[in-house]
Amino acid sequence: MQSNEIRQRFLKFFEKRGHSIIPSASLVPENDPSVLFNTAGMQPLVPYLLGEEHPAGKMIVDAQKCVRTTDIEEVGDNTHLTFFEMLGNWSLGDYFKKDAISWSYEFLTDKNDGLGLDPKKLYVTVFEGNDDAPRDEEAYSIWKNIFVNAGLNPDGHIFFMSAESNWWSPGDNGPCGPDTEMFYSTAGDLGDLTKEEFIKADDEQKIVEIWNDVFMEYEKKDGKVIGKLKQHNVDTGAGLERLATMLQGKTNVYETDGFKSIMNQTKQVSSDKKSQRIIADHLRTSVFIIADGVLPDNHDQGYVLRRILRRAILKTDNKEINAGNVSTLVDSVVDYYGGFYKNLSDKRAEIKQIIEKENEKFSKTLSQGLKQLEKISGDISGKDAFVLSATYGFPIEITEEIAKEKGVFIDIKGYEEEMKKHQELSKTASAGKFKGGLAGDDENSTKLHTATHMLHQALRQVLGDHVVQKGSNITPDRLRFDFSHSDKMTDEEKQKVENIVNEQIQKHLDVKMQEMSVSEAKEKGALGVFDEKYGEKVKVYSVGSFSKEICGGPHIKNTSELGVFKIKKEEASSAGVRRIKAILE
Ligand code: ALA
Repeated sequence: MQSNEIRQRFLKFFEKRGHSIIPSASLVPENDPSVLFNTAGMQPLVPYLLGEEHPAGKMIVDAQKCVRTTDIEEVGDNTHLTFFEMLGNWSLGDYFKKDAISWSYEFLTDKNDGLGLDPKKLYVTVFEGNDDAPRDEEAYSIWKNIFVNAGLNPDGHIFFMSAESNWWSPGDNGPCGPDTEMFYSTAGDLGDLTKEEFIKADDEQKIVEIWNDVFMEYEKKDGKVIGKLKQHNVDTGAGLERLATMLQGKTNVYETDGFKSIMNQTKQVSSDKKSQRIIADHLRTSVFIIADGVLPDNHDQGYVLRRILRRAILKTDNKEINAGNVSTLVDSVVDYYGGFYKNLSDKRAEIKQIIEKENEKFSKTLSQGLKQLEKISGDISGKDAFVLSATYGFPIEITEEIAKEKGVFIDIKGYEEEMKKHQELSKTASAGKFKGGLAGDDENSTKLHTATHMLHQALRQVLGDHVVQKGSNITPDRLRFDFSHSDKMTDEEKQKVENIVNEQIQKHLDVKMQEMSVSEAKEKGALGVFDEKYGEKVKVYSVGSFSKEICGGPHIKNTSELGVFKIKKEEASSAGVRRIKAILE
């Protein structure tokens, strides 16, 4: 069964059982400053897991694009990827364990509507309990019935496991809960297993985790479970690429249909098998990231993109990918995924151009940088690593890799100290930002979010209606807003925008939310991207009568909470797009 069909079957299966299909959110989280990319299906849905009403209802199904770079070193083995699709069905305060588990089982094993997997090869784990929550007897007894009805011995297929494996949370803060995980054998019928045999089979990759049902009814703050949420939720995640590997009888993900064409193309640029896989993975990820509006850069998402693109280029035989090969590599990804992810086909030419440009930029500095590296005999000091990064555009991870190849030590600590001294460089280079994790509802971020709407409106008043949002990123300290406008703003224009926002803030305007259909929102003149991503009903936030915008929230209640708005920087972001960084004092 092909990947596109697995995805389609999943969506249809749950739609038939009362779920609304929603499109994947962008890879770049809109209002969550704590992660650079969505790393799990639940991330864009956090506000709804915490109790906000979702416009599409309480039962939802989707395929969410995810990027995880924590395991980038493992890419090229049998299972690790930096980009993957997570299939998920969601109960936002609706059904719970019984339906979640029964449907998971039915989807995995049903031959007509599901995947037709063999129940004999299925093993599951359930949470054994700890101080935070009791042993999950309910999940156990639901599974027990299922295995008994299938004529199998439940004791040989269900295992109680500790929180280390069976408690899922996105980080130190946010919704979380015990989970039940499903594994499938890639080594034929292993029969009944003891717990020890099960663990060993997992270690030896004879069984592979394919799905996780999280019973999200708890909340974590600063790493501690603090109690139950207002509602019980179900958050499930099944890796599409892994399911495809199982169903296509393959032992590694690069042999599945989704990779077939790109793996063929990588032979043109590398003669090494593992490098081919890494190039395929990194190029595929880059295509998806660029399609979601990110450009290679020295900060945040752009830095990750630059790092993986340059890493891919370094893995080629010639340390460069010519325009012809960029074109066919991109085509192989877009041709396969562009039917479902329309922004890929829409931006095909742009994606090629961006990758070609980055390739050119990198090859110019690469030979100089490599020469520089050659001059360093022995270990690489923090200062050397810093110069390579700042002057020659070598992401630190790439210098690290070269050091590994040469078998020399690299002083990462020293490098980080240098970085601190030169703070104009990216914060993301320190490992911390590549990890997942969600901050709690941060008050400052919420304030800056409301200020972003006001800035958007003020920009339109001062510069004109051609101004639309091209990107937004909020940290607790500042907002960053990208918008379409080609000229540098004059000091006078910036002053005007600031004044308008501050005048409105001082009016102590109420911030109100209303739900309505997309067409109604359009009629009322709400700003926002009117694309399919919003589903049927949308939320419109208004700040007095000053601003009206489609948005998922959260926002403050009244502008009196905001303080004084200040633009700190106005600069070019990309062709025709300007970027403002601003703060509230
Ligand atoms: N949120 C769960 C996971 O990512 C389903 O595994």
